[in-house]
Amino acid sequence: MIPSPQERIVVLDFGSQTTQLIARRVREEGVYCEIHPYRTPIDRIRALAPRGLILSGGPSSVAEAGAPAPDPAIFGLGVPVLGICYGQQVMAQLLGGEVRAADRREFGAAELELLEGGGLFDGPPGSRERVWMSHGDRVVRLPDGFAPIARTPEAPFAAIADPTRAFFGVQFHPEVVHTPGGRAMLGRFVREICGCRGGWDMASYLDRAVSEIRDRVGARRVICALSGGVDSAVAAVLVHRAVGEQLRCVFVDTGVLRRGEAAQVQEVFGHYLKIGLTTVDASKRFLARLEGVVDPEVKRKRIGHEFIEVFEEAARGLGGADFLVQGTLYPDVIESVSVHGPSASIKSHHNVGGLPERLRFELLEPLRELFKDEVRALGRHLGLPGAVLNRQPFPGPGLAIRVLGEVTPERLEIVRAADAIVQEEIGRSEFAPKLWQAFAVLLPVQSVGVMGDGRTYESTCALRAVESVDGMTADWARLPAELLARISNRITNEVRGINRVVYDISSKPPATIEWE
Ligand code: XMP
Repeated sequence: MIPSPQERIVVLDFGSQTTQLIARRVREEGVYCEIHPYRTPIDRIRALAPRGLILSGGPSSVAEAGAPAPDPAIFGLGVPVLGICYGQQVMAQLLGGEVRAADRREFGAAELELLEGGGLFDGPPGSRERVWMSHGDRVVRLPDGFAPIARTPEAPFAAIADPTRAFFGVQFHPEVVHTPGGRAMLGRFVREICGCRGGWDMASYLDRAVSEIRDRVGARRVICALSGGVDSAVAAVLVHRAVGEQLRCVFVDTGVLRRGEAAQVQEVFGHYLKIGLTTVDASKRFLARLEGVVDPEVKRKRIGHEFIEVFEEAARGLGGADFLVQGTLYPDVIESVSVHGPSASIKSHHNVGGLPERLRFELLEPLRELFKDEVRALGRHLGLPGAVLNRQPFPGPGLAIRVLGEVTPERLEIVRAADAIVQEEIGRSEFAPKLWQAFAVLLPVQSVGVMGDGRTYESTCALRAVESVDGMTADWARLPAELLARISNRITNEVRGINRVVYDISSKPPATIEWE
């Protein structure tokens, strides 16, 4: 499904952590943008018919042997090119300039002074803008045809241009929030320099996606497993908009969900959106499979297998289907060269993986081109309530991996009760929108406490609250002491079996978000 083939900006990825942000900023400016590896063959790039190319930053040095470089033929495509950081350096070198390691690494905020000409900036010469730098190498001699269009005290070639060929290079990162004018600069590049008219927004995406899904599905039948999460919810409502009653949704209560989750899915889908929903209460089966299991990977595998079996039975009960909807997002399909450190994918994620092969479904992935924030915007257009759209990520294996050690009905109920307090208190606070996730973990640790006149020997609960952009890295949230105190008091008072609450102050890496 390629929804906007008329106008496309292509980002060639050299491995920067912020490559995805470039594409997101361009899309926020209303222009469709895709990410491809830097080594994408020129014929493939030509076939994409880009209106412009952006070369991303990256961790390498152009001076290294075997440093990543694009096919030089990209400079003969006749479209504007913008190089960012490493992208600027590799462009300068390929076009005959010179790049050298700087005496010291420049990292952090810098003040950019605009010079004459260029079209990339809209301020008059001499005006200043704050930008974010992060680089070791720098361009020391410009290729023929290039002139500086902005400088900093440290960097005479902070921004360069060859206006005749519409080639631009910036040493700073316009895609990050620390460059306040960066998004507008990218907007001017794609609109004024590349000539894109825009039109990429979720209202038009919705129309295109609906007609494509209709064409592809025809009169056949579609099934969707709802997880309670944002992606499967938006995917289901979108497909329902396209094919109506031909879609059936299945929601499996695994018994390791949070409090109220199953009821919320039924309320939203069954009653509010009136989408055909089959709910299967399989909690007993799942809990039986988890008996005596301590290893989190074994928990994941057992839950994954059980899920496939339960879903298979439900699908058969509904008389089968031809298509399976999956809420795959764009970041899952980008063939990126980025090195993200320990990635979430090193764990076995069992959501509905494995189902398509086993049941011979054709896959319907209507969110494949979208970033998470676009999925939320699409969900708003489709009328999904905020409670669903703003839901925090929740792992497929659910509370089973937040009960460390054996998962018993009693221990599940303890973590569920503690988690409900966390959700309630965080939800009421001003911190909710800033957090990626906040949750309780039940530790396999008991310690002595005191209650009334008696000693207790009960469990410890860890509270985890993190800020993150994509879950790949995260930092612990600096929640105020009063909020932590309220959560701790409520948990120790209201949840039987917990006499101690600790707050996790580790970042990822080296820790992970979940404990398991
Ligand atoms: P970690 O703990 O690896 O988690 O820092 C990164 C993100 O992934 C979520 N997560 C999972 N999601 N199945 C899922 O669907 C899983 O097995 C799983 N394990 C972790 C986690 O909640 C966080 O948002």
